[in-house]
Parts: sequence; C-alpha cells; structure tokens
Amino acid sequence: MKKKILLSGANGQLGKTFRALSGNYNQWEWYFLTKKDFNLKSEDSVRTTLNNIKPDIIINCGAYTAVDQAESEHQKAMLINAKSLGWIADYAEKYNTKVIHFSTDYVYHNQCNRPLLETDVCTPLSVYGKSKLEGEQLLLSIHPTSLILRTSWVYSPYGKNFFLTMQKLGEERDELKVVNDQIGSPTYTFDLAESCLNIINSHFKKGKEFPSGIYNYSNEGCCSWYDFAHAILELSGKKVHLTPVSSSEFPAKAPRPAFSLMSKKKIRSLLNQPIPHWRDSLKNCINRQSSKLIREE
Ligand SMILES: NC(=O)c1ccc[n+]([C@@H]2O[C@H](COP(=O)([O-])OP(=O)(O)OC[C@H]3O[C@@H](n4cnc5c(N)ncnc54)[C@H](OP(=O)(O)O)[C@@H]3O)[C@@H](O)[C@H]2O)c1
Repeated sequence: MKKKILLSGANGQLGKTFRALSGNYNQWEWYFLTKKDFNLKSEDSVRTTLNNIKPDIIINCGAYTAVDQAESEHQKAMLINAKSLGWIADYAEKYNTKVIHFSTDYVYHNQCNRPLLETDVCTPLSVYGKSKLEGEQLLLSIHPTSLILRTSWVYSPYGKNFFLTMQKLGEERDELKVVNDQIGSPTYTFDLAESCLNIINSHFKKGKEFPSGIYNYSNEGCCSWYDFAHAILELSGKKVHLTPVSSSEFPAKAPRPAFSLMSKKKIRSLLNQPIPHWRDSLKNCINRQSSKLIREE
C-alpha cells in the first residue's frame, strides 16, 4: 500500500512547491489540502480530515503569515499558528504519524550577533513570532518526535514574497530604497522542499530513522535585504537605482530582528546533499520562472 502524505496550506508558496515536486515522488499518495478541506482554525476540520485520510506523514505548510497584520489579529494568528498544532499533535501521537512543521527565524529575536543555534534563547517580539514559537512548543510537548524546520526569508516563483515584489517594483520604478540593516539568509522553497522529500525518502526507502526536534534551514551565505534586492534585480535584468536605507525609513507594525542568520550546522549533518548558496538558488528560481516549467505548474 502506498504511504499517504497529507499536506496543509497547499495554495501557499511552499505548498505549491511540494505540489510541483510531487510528480517525482508518485510512489506516495499525496493529499494536497487547502484551508477549505483542512482548516487550521477549526478543530473539527482538522480532526475529521485526519481521521478520514489517516496519513502516514503530515507536512504542515498552512500558516498565518501576515506578519504585520498579526499585530492586530492576535487571536487568529494564535489559533492558526499555535492551537491547531495541538490537534495535529494529538492525532500524530495516537497513530505514530510523522509530522514536518515549519517555523521561523522570527522566534529567536534575541541579542545574538553570530549564527543562531537551535538551542539559543527565543524571545520573539512580534505576535507572529510568538504564535510560531507557541506552535512549536505545543507540537513537541504532545508529539516529541515531530520535525520542525525553522526557516527564513522564504521566496519562490509563487504567491507573495520579496523576490516577486522586487521584480514587480523593478518593472514599475527607476529608483528603490531597500533596508540594509537587517541581516539573514533567503530560503528558496524548492531547496527546502527537496530537503524534506529527501528526509522522507531516506526514511521510507532506506529505513533511516526519522529525525525529530528543531532544525534551522535556509540557504547558505548571508546578506541584507538590500543585497538580496540588488541580486534579484541584476539577475532579472532590471535596471533600477537602488539606495540602501535603515529600517527606520520603513516603520512596520511588527518588529523585525536585525540579525537572523541561522546556523545550518545541525541540518547539514542530517542531509546527504549540500545546501545551495542563496545566490545559486536565486539563479535557479529565475531560471525556473523563465522556463516552461513554471507555466505548466
Ligand atoms: N514566507 C516567509 O518568509 C516565511 C519565513 C519563515 C517561515 N515561514 C513559514 O514557512 C511556512 C510556509 O510559509 P509560506 O511562505 O508558504 O506561506 P504562505 O505562502 O502564506 O502560505 C500559507 C498557506 O496557509 C494557508 N492558510 C491560511 N490560513 C489557513 C487556515 N486557517 N487553514 C489552513 N491553511 C491556512 C494560506 O491560505 P490562504 O492564502 O488562502 O489564506 C496559504 O495557502 C509557514 O509555516 C511560515 O510560517 C515563512
């Protein structure tokens, strides 16, 4: 019998990436569910759907990701990003289901200025960051064998993200200001999803133990948003005059960490493939976007 994989948030950028890659993994039965069929705001929807499908693996790509809006929608963010993890964890613990869940660099928001370790103190300042940390804690407290990947600056050719925003602004404007005092590392969804698929494959095919606990994952290298914007525009062939500015020029409702570069030491030892550098992944994203691939997805 084929192993069943249930994926939530199927219309999000990470969900769409898994869908695009799933054709290479048709040894498994995929259930790509949007919030219509698997609503993380509804205990009944989550519990009923899990009981009906009885997945072997749950990949939780669904989330409340509107970082600034979360500041005025505390309850909604907590429900989707934290409470729902309790319902998923209950099921997974009962049926020994593997769970892959995604969290964020925003959970750290501490004073460290060296690559952040999974064991570092977490003092999230935004509602979004707090809700994601609570979700992690709830999931691991009920189902400790869950795998949580903390990721940062996620982009892809789909949906809403910094990469697509810069390309659009690059079409519309001759000049742009971008902040250069926030440091981190971008994550290309195809690299993140491939790593997850690799982990699942190693488990099912080669009988490798399924990893559990918290792992950081982003592309290698580090940059500021200004550096990232510069590379996006250059590699996309957009001629725009870019000015580096401080975050104080773009006041946002939710506080952003100034330094959120994460150490990948832990996950490197798990993956049997290197993590690509962010510049190489950016080129891959642009190639995918301009090739036939994306139009067929
Ligand atoms: N984007 C980033 O920069 C970033 C950074 C760090 C970590 N992460 C984490 O990475 C994961 C994937 O993020 P992403 O970038 O793919 O986000 P995304 O593109 O915003 O996708 C999130 C998906 O969740 C869905 N969703 C919203 N409310 C839901 C509900 N009540 N029930 C079920 N699904 C619901 C959304 O559907 P609708 O669009 O229809 O509402 C959307 O399809 C998330 O856990 C996120 O917290 C993201």
